[in-house]
Amino acid sequence: MAAAPESADGSKGGGLIGWIDQRFPLTKMWKEQVAEYYAPKNFNFWYYFGSLALLILVNQLVTGIFLTMNYKPSSAEAFSSVEYIMRDVDWGWLIRYMHSTGASAFFIVIYLHMFRALLYGSHRKPRELIWIFGCLIFLLLMAEGFMGYVLPWGNMSYWGAQVIVSLFGSLPYIGGALVEWIRGDYYIADATLNRFFALHVAALPLALVFLVIAHLMALHEVGSNNPDGIEIHDHKDAKGHPLDGIPFHPYYTVKDLVGVAGFLLLFCGVIFFAPTFGGLFLESPNFEPANALQTPPHIAPVWYFTPFYAMLRAVPSFAGTQVWGVLVMGASIVVLFFVPWLDRSPLFADALVHETRQREAGAGKGHRTCLKAGY
Ligand code: HEM
Repeated sequence: MAAAPESADGSKGGGLIGWIDQRFPLTKMWKEQVAEYYAPKNFNFWYYFGSLALLILVNQLVTGIFLTMNYKPSSAEAFSSVEYIMRDVDWGWLIRYMHSTGASAFFIVIYLHMFRALLYGSHRKPRELIWIFGCLIFLLLMAEGFMGYVLPWGNMSYWGAQVIVSLFGSLPYIGGALVEWIRGDYYIADATLNRFFALHVAALPLALVFLVIAHLMALHEVGSNNPDGIEIHDHKDAKGHPLDGIPFHPYYTVKDLVGVAGFLLLFCGVIFFAPTFGGLFLESPNFEPANALQTPPHIAPVWYFTPFYAMLRAVPSFAGTQVWGVLVMGASIVVLFFVPWLDRSPLFADALVHETRQREAGAGKGHRTCLKAGY
């Protein structure tokens, strides 16, 4: 058997960890990715949302697995199987509300996470790939949210699917055939529900998890940005550790736990006291079963899709086709991928240096800089 040399800090020492370390780089990975991963020391409130997104991803995966144990992906049984989960399955109501509230929480957290990236220029060189993986995650998340919404087979599920799938029909030449291919039938039907279920519970979550791993690998390759926009790896001490950095563990593991506690308070508040959130998180027409003969009085998507729906409705049909609204909506997502190259504004750090000089010259604008930096 190979010898177990080293080390005071556990790696390749004795015991269970030592045994694992000789066969798998457990301590090495922990040290490289967490305990000795140096992050800027000036992370603020806005830096909570990455770890919160991870937490919600895990919540969605775990509650989703338990929902799948009792859900029936057929147009005849889907709606009543959800009612069965809510009324008869032990803790089924809690699992379902954790999943439905988690979907809205996911979008709140992701929108704030993206806003933070734009606020501090985290999408710019050398972090373009972190951003692009993020955009792909966002795209998949939208597909995941849409297909999940169809599964309870309520009336809004049905008509929402009808509206969104028909959008593809506005594409010239291939539109009609494409819509039929997506539905797997001549209308939104059992075949549609079945394939959306397969995509929602298997294909998309798998792709999401791979993309999140790629997102974090890219982040750890170049290192985190920070509110001041200063690259911490440019200034290191004699040991090679960034002077403006601190180890992720224990400093940020503990800080992120504060964010988790705050988030869980709000999350549990919604689950236990306002699970439909006034019709925003679960809409009332979706408490009625799908009915192909009766549209809901107002077809509107869930709140997190409303900006995209607004674009769709704002652009009138022109030259005999409605494709323009679809193109505008598509472009609003595609343009995100190019933001790192479209953004030519000066770095935030430059503005900081400028304002610090002004303050030193007596202009006294430091507090405004702090406000802008989000402290
Ligand atoms: C499942 C979804 C996602 C998860 C779990 C996730 C997770 C994370 C984590 C843990 C971090 C490091 C901590 C932090 O900076 O907050 C991070 C950083 C980052 N994320 Fe995400 N993310 C997700 C989606 C996105 C999306 C949709 C975008 C943008 C389109 C994005 C853009 C970024 C950027 C640019 C950074 C670097 C921030 C910096 O260094 O200042 N992420 N992400």
